[in-house]
Amino acid sequence: MNINDAISQRHSTRAFLDKNVSREQVNRILDIARHAPSGANTQPWRVAVVSGKSKNTLQKKIEHAFNSGVDAQISYQYYPITWKPIYKSRRKECGLQLYSSLNIAKNDREKRQAQWAANYRAFDAPVMLLFFIAPEMETGSFLDYGIFLQSVMLAAMEEGLATCPQAALAEYPQIAKQSLGYTNDDILICGMALGYEDTHAPVNNYRTARESASSFSDYFN
Ligand SMILES: Cc1cc2nc3c(=O)[nH]c(=O)nc-3n(C[C@H](O)[C@H](O)[C@H](O)COP(=O)(O)O)c2cc1C
Repeated sequence: MNINDAISQRHSTRAFLDKNVSREQVNRILDIARHAPSGANTQPWRVAVVSGKSKNTLQKKIEHAFNSGVDAQISYQYYPITWKPIYKSRRKECGLQLYSSLNIAKNDREKRQAQWAANYRAFDAPVMLLFFIAPEMETGSFLDYGIFLQSVMLAAMEEGLATCPQAALAEYPQIAKQSLGYTNDDILICGMALGYEDTHAPVNNYRTARESASSFSDYFN
């Protein structure tokens, strides 16, 4: 696949076909993504590939915690504490597009909650990827990790697969670590749904906007 096409056609996919992804496919994706650059070649990634029974067990535990009102507790500050209008409006638009594609009204809390909970099942994709980093790694390594994550998403496209990066999957890190047998130390950065896209699902059929390059670039000659 052409690189420009892959970058511009990638989109977050939130409905998947009931079709398995093989271990070989995931392995090929990770085998490409491992070429991502990182500061001092530290390669700070560690990936849990969760499917089948393990995925079922884990998602049930997380959904149970969510539905029981256990507070979500992501291990780092993802979003700004104070939202400036420009970011607020983009966030609002992002939510509007998602919920209107699903025909969920603004005040329909129950349906919104159910849609949010679908995050914890990786939107029923056959594979849930969880991305960990060692606790001593700093902000720079998060930068490295972002490059790795995009590499995973693009390599998945080459396999004919779709993804959704998911911070939501990092909201119950203790449950994920216990369920998979990881030690408490590692930081769960985010997760990712991986599978075959249901191209007919309305939730997959809108595209988010981007600013023009001229709006965020300055040229100095
Ligand atoms: C690190 C990261 C975490 C994200 N977490 C979630 C999430 O938890 N749930 C979700 O539905 N989308 C999540 N998204 C998807 C964003 O909403 C999406 O990338 C953005 O709206 C742009 O749309 P696009 O990916 O279709 O281009 C996340 C994206 C990134 C990069």
